Amino acid sequence: MNAPLRIWHPFTQEALDPQPLRVARGEGAHLYLEDGRRVIDAISSWWVSIHGHCHPAIMAAIARQAEKLDHVLLAGFTHAPIEELCALLRGVLPAGLDHIFFSDNGSTAVEVALKMAVQYWRNTGQPRKTSIVALEHAYHGDTVGAMSASADSSFTDPFGSFRFPVYRAHSAYCYRCPVGKTRASCDIECVERLAQLLEARSDEIAAVIVEPLLQGAGGMIVHPVEFLRRVRELCSRYDTLLIADEVLTGFGRCGAMFACDLAGVTPDLMCLSKGLGGGVLPMGGTVATGRVHNTFVGDDHSRTFYHGHSYTGNPLAAAAAVASLKIFEAEPIFDRIAAIAEIHRQRLAAITNHPAVGDTRSIGTVAAIELRADDPGYSSGRRPKLYRFFLERGILLRPLGHILYVLPPFCISADDLHYVYDRIAESLESCPAR
Ligand SMILES: Cc1ncc(COP(=O)(O)O)c(C=O)c1O
Repeated sequence: MNAPLRIWHPFTQEALDPQPLRVARGEGAHLYLEDGRRVIDAISSWWVSIHGHCHPAIMAAIARQAEKLDHVLLAGFTHAPIEELCALLRGVLPAGLDHIFFSDNGSTAVEVALKMAVQYWRNTGQPRKTSIVALEHAYHGDTVGAMSASADSSFTDPFGSFRFPVYRAHSAYCYRCPVGKTRASCDIECVERLAQLLEARSDEIAAVIVEPLLQGAGGMIVHPVEFLRRVRELCSRYDTLLIADEVLTGFGRCGAMFACDLAGVTPDLMCLSKGLGGGVLPMGGTVATGRVHNTFVGDDHSRTFYHGHSYTGNPLAAAAAVASLKIFEAEPIFDRIAAIAEIHRQRLAAITNHPAVGDTRSIGTVAAIELRADDPGYSSGRRPKLYRFFLERGILLRPLGHILYVLPPFCISADDLHYVYDRIAESLESCPAR
């Protein structure tokens, strides 16, 4: 008899990490375990579950669509749900972004953007422009291109020879300012590194990729709005494409539909996923301006974007995405987002001077507490202890090393969110510094 087929869990060290918990069902901001426990999903199940689990409108839309069309390839075919999705996205995307290329997750949305940027310059007769600039602390996904643009970390260590080289510009990480300034008096000098890179190398740089306003996995680092504006200006001045990876920040997460909206910035390419599929079914999208798209059109096949994934534009995922965008219209989502943001601000203010806390920061529905640690970084000994501490109290939080963050579904109740913060306050007293 063959041994049973066992699940190889993501980001998991089987020899050290706790056994996975068996989840029976989800509803709103809660997960219900098979053993009867209820857990507050305070990280929206890896940042996807914007409307909470099993929103009835999304479930019903998927069920209705399942009776009509499960899947069809998107080359040579189209269908109603994907077209309806485009119509709704048109209403919320920044003006100027008017072509969307679908894929099926955040990493593929990034891969597509990187490849489009490189081919864009080839199509315009500048084939030398193939290099990418990315930020320190960046995280863009785990496929090879996305991993190349991501910062060096324990995630990327084994693949050093495999990743293509990218130029690194400073992140506007104010708490650990890369140029030794303080936010109160700085003039965003951290952007100078990018300016110098573009000045020296714009003839070879295809694109600058950023997570706009919020670097997620790198530590929930919140950037000043002015930083993103300057990046946009520099990209325009040096004729380089700007890729905004809104995989995490899109769909209300940062307080506006897209983080770029908060800065009044339109990128040349925008990557979408996570909330795009309503947090229910996988879907990725790379949105391009007409300027980019039009260079791929012509009677010469060499201009074609030869890229595609089997499940591109899947009708069930598209139906979920449509239902999700309709929820933004039918329910007071932005009021809920504002209420979460206010609780974040109040509760962070109350702990920011605690001796265990190095920095607190928030944007929209995302709040982060950077703890003082003897061993800062993703492998900090604080991570497993905090993870266990919160789970034992019915809360799913997955600290990024010594950085604790709260990123709840928009439907979380004020009571639940305060409960999370009450337990965070307790953890500051009881969890050791390493
Ligand atoms: C900003 C950003 N880009 C890309 C990705 C990759 O998305 P996926 O995990 O769906 O491949 C993530 C995932 O967390 C992300 O936060």
